[in-house]
Amino acid sequence: MIDDYNTIRVKPLGGALGAEISGINLNEAIPDEQLTEVRQVFGQYAVIFFRNQKLTPENEIRFAKRWGEINTNRFFSSVEGYPQIALVVKEPDQKNNIGGSWHTDHSYDIAPALGSMLFAHEVPVSGGDTVFASMYKAYDTLSDGLKSTLGNLRARHSSVHVFGAARAKKGNDDTVGRIKNPEAATQEAIHPVVIIHPETGRKSLYVNPGFTLGFEGWSDEESKPLLEYLYAHAARPEFTCRFQWKEGSIAFWDNRATWHLAVNDYQGSRRMMHRITIEGTPLS
Ligand code: SIN
Repeated sequence: MIDDYNTIRVKPLGGALGAEISGINLNEAIPDEQLTEVRQVFGQYAVIFFRNQKLTPENEIRFAKRWGEINTNRFFSSVEGYPQIALVVKEPDQKNNIGGSWHTDHSYDIAPALGSMLFAHEVPVSGGDTVFASMYKAYDTLSDGLKSTLGNLRARHSSVHVFGAARAKKGNDDTVGRIKNPEAATQEAIHPVVIIHPETGRKSLYVNPGFTLGFEGWSDEESKPLLEYLYAHAARPEFTCRFQWKEGSIAFWDNRATWHLAVNDYQGSRRMMHRITIEGTPLS
């Protein structure tokens, strides 16, 4: 436990990223001093977790709005009556989960999402963890030579191959139905491969296996070997932390500094989460 805070308690989850915050009740309007401390922890650890917080949808939205505008999800089903809250659900008879491979939410947007919050409403008895990886660590541990090459590159990101019509036609993916509006998958964006995080000022590796297509001015084939090297490097276990959910747990991750992956190891059980995404700013 770290004792540097007046209004919360903070327990880091590992050496790379992630911290659990306790001593806070998110069902109440949290005071500014407490929010300032939570922001400090978010900046330092890139993903923060809370336990035993059974929030009403109104209070989920109220907490999310303390961080910025809510991005209403184009592709996911939403909680009835609350379009700002996306549903991340897998039923006992469904095989595929949502977010089951490494990605960074909304990197295909010109102003990518600041962060995403996941509120656990129903979780399996075991399994269904989420794994996070630190893109600060991924960048910091590259050689000076590769850092300098990447510093001159930008990368192309897209939503089309993940959420567009071609995906919806794949017969063996039962997320079809939970992920909707293939015609809305039109987003393409170019971002620096190494970004300066808008709040912390730290350098972060900003490519991800989910949405990055290739480097600007390079073909996809030319880009593939270097991207694959970066992906294998960034997913090294020592750059990750793994969160085990319970009902009432919340995770809030910084999309400018992390990847995440939902582990699909709970066949036959239901997992139902609410997700709220916070709008971000263009990256440089
Ligand atoms: C997501 O990628 O947003 C889903 C993460 C999860 O369900 O753990």
